[in-house]
Amino acid sequence: MSQVCLINIHKSYGRHAALKGINLDIGSGAFFTLLGPSGCGKTTLLRAIAGFHAQDAGDIVVGGESISSLSANKRQVGMVFQDYAVFPHLNVFDNVAFGLVQQKVTAADIRQRVAAILQTVQLEQLAQRMPHQLSGGQQQRVGLARALVTRPKVLLMDEPLSNLDAKLREELRRDIRQLQQEFGITTIYVTHDQEEALSISDQVCVMFDGVVQQVGSPWLIYKDPQNRFVASFVGSNNFMQVGKLEQPQGLLLGQPLALPPLVWAQAGCVAAARPEKIVVNGPLSGPGIRVYGTLRQAMFTGRELQLSVELAGHGMLEALTAPSEAMVALKAGDDVVLGLHASDLQYFAPGATGARLA
Ligand SMILES: Nc1ncnc2c1ncn2[C@@H]1O[C@H](COP(=O)(O)OP(=O)(O)OP(=O)(O)O)[C@@H](O)[C@H]1O
Ligand SMILES: [Mg+2]
Repeated sequence: MSQVCLINIHKSYGRHAALKGINLDIGSGAFFTLLGPSGCGKTTLLRAIAGFHAQDAGDIVVGGESISSLSANKRQVGMVFQDYAVFPHLNVFDNVAFGLVQQKVTAADIRQRVAAILQTVQLEQLAQRMPHQLSGGQQQRVGLARALVTRPKVLLMDEPLSNLDAKLREELRRDIRQLQQEFGITTIYVTHDQEEALSISDQVCVMFDGVVQQVGSPWLIYKDPQNRFVASFVGSNNFMQVGKLEQPQGLLLGQPLALPPLVWAQAGCVAAARPEKIVVNGPLSGPGIRVYGTLRQAMFTGRELQLSVELAGHGMLEALTAPSEAMVALKAGDDVVLGLHASDLQYFAPGATGARLA
């Protein structure tokens, strides 16, 4: 059952169209992430759902009822911001209690609900501290507690982890996911970090330029990008210009290769191959191409080996392999052979958001 329906949402700032007809269906209890580059409209969409500004057109439906005409404090939507947004003059307890006081909840209930939520976010020892006595991670836990304590129907989070260092970010990411599952609360989460989006979400919505590019599970978005933008924004990818010989033969990195008919029929298509799909110094197990290149950089990260290889006349390719003794011994300047299986190639129509063709 869908909990949040966004129906044809439009929003402009002056002449700049920030949202160009957003249609989304978000299931009850889902962790749903809006992923996209800076300026694509993520915050604009969250603010419209929260009721901080009105959309120009379209409707927002929560639990089967339109909330478009309700003011922000009537929407039963909780929001966590990027820049903590805790009240500096209130201690932790009073920060968390704020929404309940406004809702005129009794003092005894407030004490009990705030104590319970502070325990959930592991801040029970810090209830009397002032915000300036808290770390960034602790302040963000206050923000989370404050949003959850009012028992909202929907939880909105706008890049809540982007001001934290890498280790804390990962820790709080796990905590947020766990809390979300415990509470079963429908969550719309915003990030421009694709790794974060893939690791935390049930569903990912990739946005670009005020338009939804694709919605799907993290696995689907990664494995089956529906256009070139999604293929390049989510994960790493190598893009290669496709040339043509006699039908159905095409030319990729200077090598002949049979092309799918749709790709052969259009000029200017590109092929894409994920770095981990590239075979380094090894045989192919099926149809494909092999090309010679020169290793320019090798980076060993423990778990894997990243290789940047220059192909004469065809630019650079990035490959990712399991580190073996022989692979790690490779040095810049060494000759390498790269192999691409035809079955690992994806093809896209021309343009930044060119559609997937095969
Ligand atoms: N108050 C405003 N007045 C005019 N233009 C705005 C306003 N707020 C946002 N915009 C523009 O609308 C577009 C979408 O902005 P938005 O803040 O929604 O992007 P975002 O996806 O949240 O980006 P970021 O990842 O940087 O936070 C941008 O081009 C931005 O410059
Ligand atoms: Mg934003």
